[in-house]
Amino acid sequence: MSLKVTVVAPSNIAFIKYWGIKDHERIVPYNPSLSMTLSRCATRTTATRLEAADADQVLVRQPGGEMEAAAGPFRAGVVNHLDRLRVWAGVECGFRIATENSFPTGTGIASSASGFAALALAVIGALGREVTREDASRLARLSGSGSAARSVLGGYVEWPAGGDQPDAARQVLPPEHWDLRDVIAVIDTSAKEVSSREGHRRAVSSPYFAARQELLADRLRSVRQALRDRDFAALSRIVEEEAIDLHLIAMSSRPPIFYWQAGTLTVLARVREWRDAGLEVCATMDAGANVHLICTAAAEPGVVAAVEDIPVVRSVIRDAVGDGPRSVDDHLF
Ligand code: PMV
Repeated sequence: MSLKVTVVAPSNIAFIKYWGIKDHERIVPYNPSLSMTLSRCATRTTATRLEAADADQVLVRQPGGEMEAAAGPFRAGVVNHLDRLRVWAGVECGFRIATENSFPTGTGIASSASGFAALALAVIGALGREVTREDASRLARLSGSGSAARSVLGGYVEWPAGGDQPDAARQVLPPEHWDLRDVIAVIDTSAKEVSSREGHRRAVSSPYFAARQELLADRLRSVRQALRDRDFAALSRIVEEEAIDLHLIAMSSRPPIFYWQAGTLTVLARVREWRDAGLEVCATMDAGANVHLICTAAAEPGVVAAVEDIPVVRSVIRDAVGDGPRSVDDHLF
């Protein structure tokens, strides 16, 4: 019987955003990025190897709860990653894969980060291989999702730009250093119209792309320092600047990409009010309309109560910094 391995890998939320790919084949980013690994928003993936001649079988949990054979771009993305993992491992076998998310997919909660990190780790396990976290990070990145490179580690994680060579992510600080929370204001659960892959491709066409690149070395140093000092005021300033700049570049790309919705702006306006009233909270968005409210543990109950009161917010997910992926025994097949 082939080995069956199940991995739960968390999503992450970037404070310094990865936006723009220099080398699409090897997934080399233009700029370094730094994120907080989450704990509750996660992908669970089970993998086992099939006989050499068998085609890959890919199952995915549907929003209604049933497991179904994956199709279209989702299946293509998984098989593409499996192809790259096969080349790395020097094997030709097919795989049986089943996967589910604990949160809505494709809505700016980095399902590709958790999904491809879980896939890489489950397949590595199903092949009976052991790898360092650095190699796991490189293998997760081969999926095409750069943010997956950060989801193989817990706590606060940096993925260097790596010059012309792809690099592995590394932990900057462990999760216990600072118990930050991520209260996610879900405004829209439908999948985004333009993928982040396409967003990375268009980013360089924005007249503001180069201007942001010049700011990033300083911003990265300041975020590292704010995290080390647990200085929320300093952190929140840069986190919001970065979120706005990412969307500024998306909106000024040719052709433009709008991830924000009216509800996004409503939440952003309220966050400024709460902060002025003394709550330690700031906002950031990945490639989607939903708003991540980063806050301290002390501020979290107030943030949750306030955000639940906004009519445009459909649901609230409470998450926190977490310690990274883990293997579990409750398999999906
Ligand atoms: O990893 P990708 O290709 O899904 O791109 C992620 C891009 C952002 O989520 C917007 C930013 C980031 O660094 O996570």
